[in-house]
Amino acid sequence: MRIDILTVVPDLLFSPLNESILKRAQANGLVEIHIHNIRDYTTDKHRKVDDYPFGGEAGMVMKIEPIFNCINKLKQEREYDEVIYTSPDGITYNQKEANRLSTLNNVIILCGHYKGVDYRVREHLITREISIGDYVLTGGELAAAIITDSIVRLVPGAIGDEASALTDCFQDNLLAPPVYTRPAEFNGWQAPEVLLSGNFAAISKWQEDQAFERTATLRPDMLEE
Ligand code: ADE
Repeated sequence: MRIDILTVVPDLLFSPLNESILKRAQANGLVEIHIHNIRDYTTDKHRKVDDYPFGGEAGMVMKIEPIFNCINKLKQEREYDEVIYTSPDGITYNQKEANRLSTLNNVIILCGHYKGVDYRVREHLITREISIGDYVLTGGELAAAIITDSIVRLVPGAIGDEASALTDCFQDNLLAPPVYTRPAEFNGWQAPEVLLSGNFAAISKWQEDQAFERTATLRPDMLEE
């Protein structure tokens, strides 16, 4: 899988995308992540990526030309399955969408900034608009990092124990059950006996019951779906 991220603030992305599981997935050739500085695709002397909005409102708008130049160059090199734009007015991101995106080959993510992009970008170049939640960030970079992280960990081989991606929260519309590790007792606080019993049927039943109970308490909306 290949993910190309277009941004006016590339430094915001390097560190989150080059540590831990994402670093290893790239080193092992499971995924390629390329960060493109939109400013490198300007053609004017001042390398301008934004301009004042028509109509005279406050704030700046991301210009279409450098974005078009960058997307066009990438599209000439390979076919893309989705061109995503991160914005608070996109569809709300969730695990189902992460699962879907993780099955694609090539994805572009354009990070919104300032007041947003010239709307013609969204009308003509973007295939999917994603918000990571009902709050406003200073830019789409952190949203792009979150989307990329959630996709890459689902690519087969990215996390050591593949079964563990399937038992994540949300994968079966339930929150994950609690987990414990050694020591079995700490400070008088005991890990549940059933988990130490070696009785796998009992452990599995306990985990299912816990997942259901936690979901009913913390996220009843998930059970209604
Ligand atoms: N850019 C600013 N806020 C955002 C959000 N909530 N989701 C995605 N991109 C954003």
